[in-house]
Amino acid sequence: KRIVVLISGSGSNLQAIMDAIESGRIHGQIVQVISNKTDAYGLVRAANAGIPTTCIDHKTFASREAFDDEVRRCIDINQADLIILAGFMRILSARFVQHFSGRMLNIHPSLLPKYKGLHTHQRALAANDLEHGCTVHYVTEELDGGPLLIQAVVPILQNDDENSLQSRVHTREHAAYPLAVEWICAGRVRFDKDGIHLDEELL
Ligand code: GRF
Repeated sequence: KRIVVLISGSGSNLQAIMDAIESGRIHGQIVQVISNKTDAYGLVRAANAGIPTTCIDHKTFASREAFDDEVRRCIDINQADLIILAGFMRILSARFVQHFSGRMLNIHPSLLPKYKGLHTHQRALAANDLEHGCTVHYVTEELDGGPLLIQAVVPILQNDDENSLQSRVHTREHAAYPLAVEWICAGRVRFDKDGIHLDEELL
């Protein structure tokens, strides 16, 4: 499959996916990395791996729709089968999401449906939760609300602060995201108007 990855920052999930492709754990190729931030370190990671990069700076567009249209054009030129949001910190318009329906994944640092939105680690600590984690899900119009594909659970330890918890979750993200991407590349998972379809071995 032809994969386009959207980032805004460090790109450690992008790195995990690139590493999994390199080592043959994902049967797909990243054809383009798009960032809305010029200084995203993920752009450097992609360039180091010889992957074409584009920066589409949202601040140079008059509206959310105009920005989304440009991102969509860039993805479509690359004939992407799969769009991966990996720390992409922009909310995408309904029209954009519909255009890529069933083809776009996100990773969110919480055990969805708990803690949609921002500051998930802080919120899990404040709630005295015993467990936290991350979720890979299909993207639908509802923010962080699409069908769940995979979750990884971590314990919350007594002395945890936001940083320690975040880094424990991050480590699990780097395993969960490549796995979900490979399920899709291998045709083991599909999502369409009738919902998620899973290969029997995954059930
Ligand atoms: C991750 O915590 C992910 O769950 C969230 O944004 C962060 C991206 O980290 N959506 P990175 O840029 O992949 O290092």
